Amino acid sequence: MSKKILITGGAGFIGSHLADKLIKQKDYDVTILDILDEQVHGKLGKLPEYLNKRAKFIRGSVTDYKKLEDLVKQNEIIFHLAAKVGVGQSMYQIEKYVNNNILGLANLLDILVNSEHNIEKIVIASSNTVYGEGKSQCNKCGVIIPKLRSLKQLKLKDWELNCPKCGSKVKPLLTDENSLLNPSSIYAFSKQAQEKMGLLIGNTYGINTTILRFFLVYGTRQALLNPYTGVCAIFGIRALYGKPPIIFEDGEQSRDFIHVSDVCQALVLAMEKMLANGEIFNVGTGIPITIKEVAETITQKINPKLKPIYNQQFRIGDIRHCVADISKIKNKLKFSPTLVFKEGIDDLINWIKTQKEIVGKLSQKAMQELIEKGLLK
Ligand SMILES: NC(=O)c1ccc[n+]([C@@H]2O[C@H](COP(=O)([O-])OP(=O)(O)OC[C@H]3O[C@@H](n4cnc5c(N)ncnc54)[C@H](O)[C@@H]3O)[C@@H](O)[C@H]2O)c1
Ligand SMILES: [Zn+2]
Repeated sequence: MSKKILITGGAGFIGSHLADKLIKQKDYDVTILDILDEQVHGKLGKLPEYLNKRAKFIRGSVTDYKKLEDLVKQNEIIFHLAAKVGVGQSMYQIEKYVNNNILGLANLLDILVNSEHNIEKIVIASSNTVYGEGKSQCNKCGVIIPKLRSLKQLKLKDWELNCPKCGSKVKPLLTDENSLLNPSSIYAFSKQAQEKMGLLIGNTYGINTTILRFFLVYGTRQALLNPYTGVCAIFGIRALYGKPPIIFEDGEQSRDFIHVSDVCQALVLAMEKMLANGEIFNVGTGIPITIKEVAETITQKINPKLKPIYNQQFRIGDIRHCVADISKIKNKLKFSPTLVFKEGIDDLINWIKTQKEIVGKLSQKAMQELIEKGLLK
């Protein structure tokens, strides 16, 4: 039977792909609640052209209790993706981030607890940022979680992480779900709060709840107008405008980049599998990629003449390494990422080429904002 599914934030990057998958592959009845945030969708707040015509669209905020309550009552499954997503920006728009991300979910949970409804499952989008630095190996002390690097260390351009016990340099490991959480921005903290709130209420009231910690997601429909869009889109846009990628630190920072289609695979598995209930899962590829490799791969494909600029700057609060250990989601949900970065990235590059209205100054705009707020040194 066709399930009734609500996707909050479903007009955005990940939510719109999820809507397509649920409609095309499952023939589900999808409703989207989205505020069409100006930063993501532009000043006119136009419905994006890519939005699936078979999805029912409601414009509104998850902070609007009444509107959300009506939609909760009409649906059976909820994917809660609505959020403000700029890590750096969250450090100076604190009220906005707390309001949208924490109070938005507070509304949803309040409704689930206090209203009559038929919700069978909720899946909440969290983020790798909840970890702060990932797990590392110290040759003397074993497995440790490094602290964020101090301003003093960064000013010395001493980029690699130190062991918090003995001070030696450490090597990054894959980070599993039981690793210590150490969010280093209001955005990351809001995601940690969402995780705790979701599981606490879910477990207390027997509401099936799953948390997915997405690592860095890339693919078509990334909000190119948003200066806080991901690094792949920023490097891609710059290369198209003949500008080299600007790399912070020395480019050896490592991350886990996952294609949006694989994230949608994880979202559907989380919805369908009973074993996912009450659990948190990393959603990544488990393969480390350095920012230098990202820059080289993207410029090679768009404009091989461009040479990356290493400007020796750094962003306060940036982590050095965080890559997912995906054993849990592989074993429990049979998740298996299908695209490696070098292949998956073609999709984003080809799409960026079609987005003519984008100007090449976006990443400078983001940097300017960070400089003004004292977050970029
Ligand atoms: N893209 C990534 O790399 C990544 C990584 C980790 C976690 N996530 C999480 O995944 C989710 C989706 O992210 P995305 O990359 O698709 O971002 P996105 O900005 O493209 O989509 C978010 C959507 O939410 C909407 N929105 C914002 N506030 C809202 C509100 N109060 N009410 C209703 N709608 C609202 C926006 O208009 C937008 O369409 C977010 O929760 C984000 O924190 C994303
Ligand atoms: Zn040590």
